[in-house]
Amino acid sequence: KPVAVLQGGTSAEREVSLNSGATVIAALQGLGCEVRPVDPADADWIAKLQDVGSVFNALHGPGGEDGVMQGALTALGLPYTGSGVLGSAIAMDKQRSKQLWQGIGIPTGGFELLAADTDWQGVIDRLGKVFVKPACEGSSIGMAPASNAAELQAAWQAAAAYGDAVLAEKFIDGPEYTVSILGDAALPSIRMETDNTFYDYEAKYLSDDTRYHCPSGLSDADEAEVAAIALAAFRSLGCAVWGRVDLMRDADGRFYVLEVNTIPGMTSHSLVPMAARVAGLDIQALVKRILELSWA
Ligand code: DAL
Ligand code: MG
Repeated sequence: KPVAVLQGGTSAEREVSLNSGATVIAALQGLGCEVRPVDPADADWIAKLQDVGSVFNALHGPGGEDGVMQGALTALGLPYTGSGVLGSAIAMDKQRSKQLWQGIGIPTGGFELLAADTDWQGVIDRLGKVFVKPACEGSSIGMAPASNAAELQAAWQAAAAYGDAVLAEKFIDGPEYTVSILGDAALPSIRMETDNTFYDYEAKYLSDDTRYHCPSGLSDADEAEVAAIALAAFRSLGCAVWGRVDLMRDADGRFYVLEVNTIPGMTSHSLVPMAARVAGLDIQALVKRILELSWA
């Protein structure tokens, strides 16, 4: 029976997902699978799932990565790749993820929720420079830094276009790292360097100037520490199979978890394929491993 590849969808990360889907489709074809691309933005997408045997979910963002699609596929009795309903739903929500990590002592930056009646100056007094982000988006969409009350209010306004829940997270002045998770293992960490203000949408998908370091240059002890934090953060949300944990490292060498991605990008610029290559897995081997882990 064909494997359906879910790609596209209706979230703000639609374009990224179409690229991820194209990578996955090519890899599955290379593995000899019969592949059926399915875009939930199309009216007949459910009919296209009727005779498939399983689903590779390459959707990003709300509606595809946040437990909604996982619930629908579970109800249809179709096996799908990646995390289930609960882990997908919590990981898509940065507020709940961070509250859970705070509760069990996993390091994550301090934050506050923003709303129309927020005391903007008070947030800046308490947290200093912050990053403002929609609680439930990906790919840095709707994100901006803010160093004063006026910037904070403007950043909130922009982020609120993507949903009511918006948070201001304490700015951590250090490089960004990411750890890819495959089953029980953490793949080698990657350190990102950009000349943009931060690792934004442009730096992620468009720029050829973003530098990726993998191996990341951490000492063995620090690599073991970041892997352990990433695995703990991933498992604590109920996530499984595969994903990617994004972190910052401050000037004192401490790591802080930013978020967990349960369907990380698989584009030509993306990080999980990069880490997998360093670990000796080409894209076909990576996709095959995700399938095996998903049905295990
Ligand atoms: N949200 C994007 C796809 C990522 O995490 O790679
Ligand atoms: Mg994300």
